[in-house]
Amino acid sequence: MIKKNKVAVIGAGQVGATTAFTLAVKGLVSELVIIDINRDKAEGEALDINHGMPFMKPAKIYAGTYEDTKDAEVVLITAGLPRKPGQSRRDLIHTNSRIIKDIVTHLNKYAEDPVIVVATNPVDLMALTAQKVSKQPKSKVFGSGTLLDTARFKYALAQNCNIEARSISAEIIGEHGEGEIPVWSLANVVGVPLAIYCSVCDGICEEEKRVELFERVRDSGMEVIKKKGATYYAIALTLARITEAILGDENSVLTVSTYVDGYLGVTDVSMGLPAVVGAGGIQRLIDLPLSLEEQKSFIETANVLKDLAKDIEEFKPH
Ligand code: APR
Repeated sequence: MIKKNKVAVIGAGQVGATTAFTLAVKGLVSELVIIDINRDKAEGEALDINHGMPFMKPAKIYAGTYEDTKDAEVVLITAGLPRKPGQSRRDLIHTNSRIIKDIVTHLNKYAEDPVIVVATNPVDLMALTAQKVSKQPKSKVFGSGTLLDTARFKYALAQNCNIEARSISAEIIGEHGEGEIPVWSLANVVGVPLAIYCSVCDGICEEEKRVELFERVRDSGMEVIKKKGATYYAIALTLARITEAILGDENSVLTVSTYVDGYLGVTDVSMGLPAVVGAGGIQRLIDLPLSLEEQKSFIETANVLKDLAKDIEEFKPH
């Protein structure tokens, strides 16, 4: 039997539409349903992508309803308010948590056995909301997490050393936002610690430049929003990469926002950590041997997220 690769994208805004387009262009789906409370927007996006079909791998792409999520292998949630210039992701917590609860309640009713990936911000808190409300096990519900920050980090390091971004192994963990943590202690190029590699690649390697580079990476989403009003290409590629790992049962190590239950003593929070991602979602976490300072930062971020989670009234669906 030929495997069906069915994906549902919920939210046909800038992130959802670009993600749908990216999945289609990469030929990752055989069926793609786009769902939005604004039906016209979902239909318009599906039609626009379909008009390019002669130039892509064939796929059934359409605007639909939650009933169409029945046999979806992956559901990508991109619905909700985006940030405006000057706004933090955390500012969106109340409106977007209501939207996430509503969507996941619908998925509980219709989707039989999906892996659910949340991109709506603040993504770690929205992933936690989805994990609590979903009938799916927590290994099948996670957020895009710090995979985008990790990509931005690799891009910045690649620029600094004039090598391609895929050749760099370096992660950002923790929160997608203010509480993200660059794992400098483990960053490397083909196993050579970045601290050593940087000095031979003529890069800018001093400690203060590292801080500057990281802060630029951390704030780069807002830089894009200030310049063009929104971010969507890189997050769409991030979601496509996660989808590819699930559909292909790749067991790829991706830094996604996963339910944390005991790592460094942290419990009941969703945060970016390297996870093995395959057909059933998260297979297991990779235990990073972090430096003491990185461990401390991780625990601090977890505590902030836990306080914010208290602000999300009642996780249960109504
Ligand atoms: N169900 C389905 N769709 C919804 C719902 C809902 N309950 N509520 C809102 N939407 C849809 C809107 O109709 C809109 O089409 O979500 C879409 C959001 O699109 P945009 O406003 O363009 O926002 P976008 O830039 O795509 O960002 C969406 O992703 O990366 C995050 O921070 C970003 O939280 C934001 C989300």
